[in-house]
Amino acid sequence: MKAIIGGTGVYQLDLATEKKTIEVNTPYGTVELDQIEVDGVEIVFLARHGKGHKTPPHMINYRANMKALQILGVEEVLATCAVGSCHEHLAPGELVLMNDFLDFTKGRIQTYFDGESGVAHLELSEPYCSTLNQAILATAKEKELRIFEEAVYVCTEGPRFETASEIKMFASAGGDVVGMTNFPEVVLAKELGLCYTAVGFVTNWCTGVKKGAIEMHDIQGSIDFNRNRLTELFIQVLTRTSEEKKCHCSQSLIRL
Ligand code: HPA
Repeated sequence: MKAIIGGTGVYQLDLATEKKTIEVNTPYGTVELDQIEVDGVEIVFLARHGKGHKTPPHMINYRANMKALQILGVEEVLATCAVGSCHEHLAPGELVLMNDFLDFTKGRIQTYFDGESGVAHLELSEPYCSTLNQAILATAKEKELRIFEEAVYVCTEGPRFETASEIKMFASAGGDVVGMTNFPEVVLAKELGLCYTAVGFVTNWCTGVKKGAIEMHDIQGSIDFNRNRLTELFIQVLTRTSEEKKCHCSQSLIRL
């Protein structure tokens, strides 16, 4: 089983296929997902913020979401996320493939191992799945889709946007794009042994990168432009003939 997580602006898969909505109960809460089948491959779709974008980034039940995918037997997860760009040369409308992250959230629950289930540490030399990243790059090339590789995702707590000084600091620390949701999603996926990666679409230049304030119509325009091309790319990657896996996603958890 494979999964797609839709971020801001991506609340369902606009495909002609029949879909079934299901609810999965987890120890952390109940999660609603859509189930579809494409070319014989079962794909579940999870709207990260809920359908109609009801849950803000800092209130998302990340543990329930990722646990629900594991309960369904999901092994590969592709996520979309709306991001701001820290660089003048990385413009709204561009796609970015994540390679690493910087966590600037404040007190989000980021583990399933809080003592009761034992002590465990996560090895993070490859936070995003290298097998999926290679498959995405190969498919994007085939489709002549431009994608900025090896992006470092900075996760902020939100829901506010950042100050110009914060963005300057993130960029000088190696950050490329900024969003509010990829952490702790990425590490919870890894704790569960799932192959997970994320593609961002740039909705705006971050505060201070260009003159002027962030404008919401920029964000909506980029979402509309990217929604379909990104879900098409994801479906093609998830229905590919599978290769020998070189990633360590299933062995990144070090239990004591
Ligand atoms: N900052 C944080 N999150 C975002 C942004 C941003 O500029 N754009 C889209 N999500």
